[in-house]
Amino acid sequence: MLVTRLWVALSNKNYVCITIVVCTLLLYACTSSTSNTTPTLPQHPTYASDIAPILIKNCVPCHKKNGAGPFELLNYEQVLKHAKMIREVTRSRYMPPWPADATYSQFLDQKVLSQYDIDVINKWVEQGKPIGNTKLIATNKTIATKALQPDMVLRMKTPYKIMGTNMDSFLIMKFPFEIPEKKYVRYIEFVPDNKRVVHHVNTNLISYFPPMHNSKLMQGNYYQNTLSGNKQQVYERLAIPNDDGTYPQLQISVCNYLPGMEAYKFPDGIGGYVFQKQGMLLVDELHYGPSLKDTTDNSYFNIYFMPNAPKRPTQEITLGTNGKSAVVPPLIIQPNTVSTHSTQIIVNQDVSLLNINPHMHLLGKRFVAYAITPKGDTIPLIKINKWDFRWQYVYTFNHMLKIPKGSTIYAFGTFDNTVHNVLNPFYPPRVVSERNGSMLTTDEMFQLIIMYLPYQKGDENISLKP
Ligand code: HEC
Repeated sequence: MLVTRLWVALSNKNYVCITIVVCTLLLYACTSSTSNTTPTLPQHPTYASDIAPILIKNCVPCHKKNGAGPFELLNYEQVLKHAKMIREVTRSRYMPPWPADATYSQFLDQKVLSQYDIDVINKWVEQGKPIGNTKLIATNKTIATKALQPDMVLRMKTPYKIMGTNMDSFLIMKFPFEIPEKKYVRYIEFVPDNKRVVHHVNTNLISYFPPMHNSKLMQGNYYQNTLSGNKQQVYERLAIPNDDGTYPQLQISVCNYLPGMEAYKFPDGIGGYVFQKQGMLLVDELHYGPSLKDTTDNSYFNIYFMPNAPKRPTQEITLGTNGKSAVVPPLIIQPNTVSTHSTQIIVNQDVSLLNINPHMHLLGKRFVAYAITPKGDTIPLIKINKWDFRWQYVYTFNHMLKIPKGSTIYAFGTFDNTVHNVLNPFYPPRVVSERNGSMLTTDEMFQLIIMYLPYQKGDENISLKP
C-alpha cells in the first residue's frame, strides 16, 4: 500500500506512470491466486442437463426474442442450428461479451464462461449434440421466459419512418402516460424494434405534478433533433410545458440503451423511479444509424412496477466529462498519441455503491477505477483491459459496496488516437476532444457514473439482486 499512499501526494502529471505500477501489482496478485481446479467434465454431456443452463444464464439474456443478439438460443432446435458457431465464439471468448476483468471485481449477473463451460460445450458438439432428458428442458425454458411480463408498455403513436438516405437521424420523442394512481418503478426497459437502425437511446422522465387540467399530454410525438437547433422550440412543439408555460419536473437518464445493455433493476425498497399520474418518458435522444432503404421503427418501453414505496432514495454522480470532477490532463487527445487521463473525487461521507457505468467512445482502450480509503486500502471497482465501444454496461455489484468517508475514487482512461486503432473515426488521425460535452461518437468522453446512497450499517450484506 506504500505505492498508493505515495501517489495521492503526487502531482497530477505523475498519475499515469504510477497507475501502471499499481495495476501491475494488482494483476500479479490476482493471477497468482487463481486456482485451476476445473471440475471433471461429464462423460456424455447433454443439452438438457449441461448446455441449456449455461446458455440460459450467459446467452439468452441477449439471444432471445427482441434481445440484442441476432438469433434466439432458447430451445434445442435453435441451439442446434448454431451449435458449431457457439463452440467457436465461446472458445475464442468472443461471446458472451463481458469487457470487465472478472479477476479484478465481480458483478451481478456477470456473463463470464469458466473453462469448464467452454470445454463442456465443445465436448457436447463433438459427441453429436445429444438432447438428453427433455423433462429438464421444459423447466429450463420456463425459468428463462418467466417474470418477463411488464406492468405497462409505452409505445410510439405510429411507427417512425426512416428514409433510405444513408444519413444518421437524431430524434426527440415523447412516450406520454396517464395512470390512475402514482406508481413506483423498479425498471424501465427499452425494447428496440428495428435493431439494424436503432443505435442508442437516452431517456428522461417528466412528471406533471400536480396534474395538468387542460391536458396536452398526448399531443406531439417526435421531432428531429437538429443538433444546432433550439431545444426549447422542440419542447414546445412536443407540448411539454405545463398549462401555465412553466416546465415540469425532469429526471435525467432513467433508461439509457446501447445494444446489449440490460436495464438497471432496483432491488426491493431501494431507489426506483416515481411515475406520477401524468407524465412521459422523453427520449432525448434516439439515434438511428444510416439506412440505404426506407424502413420503419416501432421500438417501445416495458415498465415494471415495485410493490411498495422505496425507503431509500439513490443518488448518482458523474466523474469526468460533464461531471463533478475534472479530467486531468484535459481530454484533448493529440493525433498519433496514446494518452491516459484521470479523474478523482473525495467521498465526504460513508456511502454504499450500487452500480457503476464507465463510458468512453471510439478511442477508448482501457479503463480502471478504484477507491483508496483513508487507511490506504484499495477497493477495486472495475478494470477493463480491452475497452470495447460496443459493450458498455451498467455494472451492478453483487452486494452494496461500502466506500468509507475520506476515500478517494480514481478513474483512469487510456485513449488510442493512432492509425493502429481500427475504430479511429479519422484517417489520418486528428485532435479529438470532449468539445463542450458533445455526445457525438466522433468526439470523446471519459466518464464514470456512480449510483450510490448514504451508508447504513449492514449494507455490505444487502444483495442487489432484484
Ligand atoms: C450482451 C449481449 C449478448 C450476450 C450476453 C451474448 N451475445 Fe452472442 N451476440 C450478440 C450480438 C449483438 C451479436 C451480433 C453481433 C456480433 O456478432 O458481434 C452476437 C452474435 C453471436 C453469434 C454469431 C457470431 C458471428 O460471427 O456471426 C453467436 C454464435 C453468438 N452470438 C453466440 C452467443 C453465445 C453462445 C452466448 C453465450 C455464451 C452469447 N452469444 C452471449 C449479443 C450477445
